[in-house]
Amino acid sequence: MVEGSQNIDALLTEDRRFPPPPAFQEQANVNDPGVYEEAAKDPEGFWARFAEELHWFKKWDKVLEWDPPYAKWFQGGKINVSYNCLDRHVATARKNKAALIWEGEPGDRQVYTYWDLYREVCKFANALKGLGLKKGDRVTIYLPMVPELPIAMLACARLGAPHSVVFGGFSSESLRDRINDSEAKILITADGGFRRGRVVPLKENADEAVKGAPTTEKVIVVRRTGTADDQMNPDTDVWWHDLMEGQSQVCPAEPLDSEDILYLLYTSGTTGKPKGIVHTTAGYLLGTYATTKWIFDLKEDDVYWCTADIGWVTGHSYIVYGPLSNGATSIMYEGTPDYPDRDRFWSIVEKYGVTVFYTAPTAIRTFMRWGTEYPAKHDLGSLRLLGSVGEPINPEAWMWYWEHVGRSNCPVVDTWWQTETGMILISPLPGLTTLKPGSATRPFPGIDAEVVDEGGNAVDLGQGGYLVLKKPWPAMLRNIYGDPERFVQQYWSRYPGIYFTADGCKRDDEGYFWLLGRVDDVINVSAHRISTMEVESALVDHTAVAEAASIGRTDDVKGQAVVAFVTLKEEVPASEELMVELKQHVAGKIGSIARPDDIYFTAELPKTRSGKIMRRLLRDVAEGRALGDTTTLADPAVVEALKERYDEDEA
Ligand code: WTA
Repeated sequence: MVEGSQNIDALLTEDRRFPPPPAFQEQANVNDPGVYEEAAKDPEGFWARFAEELHWFKKWDKVLEWDPPYAKWFQGGKINVSYNCLDRHVATARKNKAALIWEGEPGDRQVYTYWDLYREVCKFANALKGLGLKKGDRVTIYLPMVPELPIAMLACARLGAPHSVVFGGFSSESLRDRINDSEAKILITADGGFRRGRVVPLKENADEAVKGAPTTEKVIVVRRTGTADDQMNPDTDVWWHDLMEGQSQVCPAEPLDSEDILYLLYTSGTTGKPKGIVHTTAGYLLGTYATTKWIFDLKEDDVYWCTADIGWVTGHSYIVYGPLSNGATSIMYEGTPDYPDRDRFWSIVEKYGVTVFYTAPTAIRTFMRWGTEYPAKHDLGSLRLLGSVGEPINPEAWMWYWEHVGRSNCPVVDTWWQTETGMILISPLPGLTTLKPGSATRPFPGIDAEVVDEGGNAVDLGQGGYLVLKKPWPAMLRNIYGDPERFVQQYWSRYPGIYFTADGCKRDDEGYFWLLGRVDDVINVSAHRISTMEVESALVDHTAVAEAASIGRTDDVKGQAVVAFVTLKEEVPASEELMVELKQHVAGKIGSIARPDDIYFTAELPKTRSGKIMRRLLRDVAEGRALGDTTTLADPAVVEALKERYDEDEA
């Protein structure tokens, strides 16, 4: 049986339908239902037509070379992502159009036109060159949500230096591991960032990380909070603003091969060590360009806002590369939705006239909890299209979003994809698709997705199974950085030649896809991936801990919450203080997103006779369910005892 965070039976009975509003349909970038069939017949021709809309220094010779699991898209082509996001627009009437409207948490604002952004990117690319950075060298970027973040990414892309963005909420240790895995030469960070009115001390974390990261030659520091003026190391550290002074505003974009690496992005899988997902140049650009254009329906005068952090793939694809390659105006916001008050997002929507808004179900559920008065305080009349990403959206949250944010006339696109897929793969097309609350509906044209059983056979409509992808797509991952074996093993070995997503999924009678959550050991906390193994290794790293198991417990707001079961070393007594200390220890090792909500001390963990921890039973215990099948347990008494203790705690 496929495990999931939603109740399959509840999904079966969802009978609300929302066809595209006629006015929306009429103006949509795509409103011809024939696109699906056309793309299915000739996917390569379909992608190549989008590719014609991009700028190429040299056109490709071959659209696709597929030697499973290795795909090469647009071989022989020469292209540059930064050129496509900037120079192409600067050469047109878009040159003085706002590309990025950035708002800091304290309320400060900066607007970059395409021309401004082009100049800043060229200057910074020249600065990087001046530091000796060459094509192919890796650059780690550990920044808050400030304009220098996309500027740095686009400068790297301009030179063909792969960037590796590390989310600013990660710990120094997580940062260090990622720098070391990619052997990055340069680290770009800031003194700090603002979050909920406080300063996040990025420079301190960066300094700590660099101590154990010997490949780092230079640390470039953005001055954002003014809190690290006395922490600059004269040997390695240089201020961003000093570096930019006097740089030329001209830096020709490097003509790169289609398959040159654009970036690495680390994500959690089933082991303790995050893996560097490799994305390349032409196919990735094309995939984000095409999906942004058709799914977000962007028009010249749209104001688009994706609320993700650029530290995650959603920000890479749908704040930076997709919208900028489309010449869109984007909002970028530094802080949290409840600062200074719980209406901050809606005040931003009203203030800038946001038309297309893209966020995560966990945020929507938080807004639901806060109450309708916050969106109601603002005029949200500019909105015309809403999006959701990161985890399954439950129908109640979908309906709330539809009614209280979309005033019951904005299509909601529930977009399914992964760090590995690079681009959205399952989603409505807002001018075509009849929506069902809670369903990501159907694959994007040209995408061959299927739900299969253990044996790899497609399940009948009305059934559930594993989501797989049967054909390559342009923005697909090309490898795991430095670990090609794991790439094959993780994604391509369960069903050879077919991509295994590790998501459970159900098809309804009409063939709609209903995502059910992960079927592996990945916990999805507020739409962020954490592996149970990462949490467990952080816990056993503490001197008091003998053994640990962690699971994702269903959570009304976060989707899943991290819960850990811990066996202490013999001489160590359990205590409230120790519990707090262990939670803090995990946050310190990985980052606060991984902090367990609850830790339970237990004398033993439930294991199979072969010694495997039975997380399924721990989940039953944590969620207060009757215990599932315990026959394979080495000692069923262990879990019974655990359940008794736990039920007492809850009472
Ligand atoms: C989950 C985020 C249901 C899924 C873009 C996937 C979703 C994982 C959806 C990838 C959605 C993402 N409906 N589940 N619309 N979008 N997921 O790599 O489990 O951070 O495997 O990429 O998030 O998370 P990642």
